[in-house]
Amino acid sequence: MRASTFHRSFFAAVLVAVALPVACASEAPEVPLGPGGTPDAELVTGREIYQGRCANCHGADGGGGTGPMLADGAVVEQYPDPADQRAIIADGRNAMPSFGGSLTPAELDAVVRYTREVLR
Ligand code: HEC
Repeated sequence: MRASTFHRSFFAAVLVAVALPVACASEAPEVPLGPGGTPDAELVTGREIYQGRCANCHGADGGGGTGPMLADGAVVEQYPDPADQRAIIADGRNAMPSFGGSLTPAELDAVVRYTREVLR
């Protein structure tokens, strides 16, 4: 193999290795901008938590996976009182892990709001 051919295929392989994970990573929906032109900070925190801790089971868009669908108003319908939804996240239920020990009360509030207000 000539050196230039080697280089070309080497760089092609690097490109694929770098580009693939980016292309496959699905992202939780962005928090829409508020009236002041900036997104609600609590919802941004909620999105970060959702993306990092919940999306692997409930789907990046909340459409469900290992865990049930949360999007399309599912949690609002299931839990008219957000406190009931928060309790499940804090305490866990069956295959749903508990997050009361690893998320602060403010973080629990933020992720509850994110699922109710943005994943819809
Ligand atoms: C390991 C997978 C897993 C992770 C991670 C996970 N969940 Fe769940 N979740 C589940 C499963 C499974 C259920 C259904 C529990 C049951 O059988 O009652 C569930 C149920 C729920 C419910 C109740 C839904 C309903 O229709 O009653 C909510 C709300 C919820 N999860 C939110 C979250 C949030 C918020 C996070 C992140 C902080 C999270 N989950 C992380 C697996 C997971």
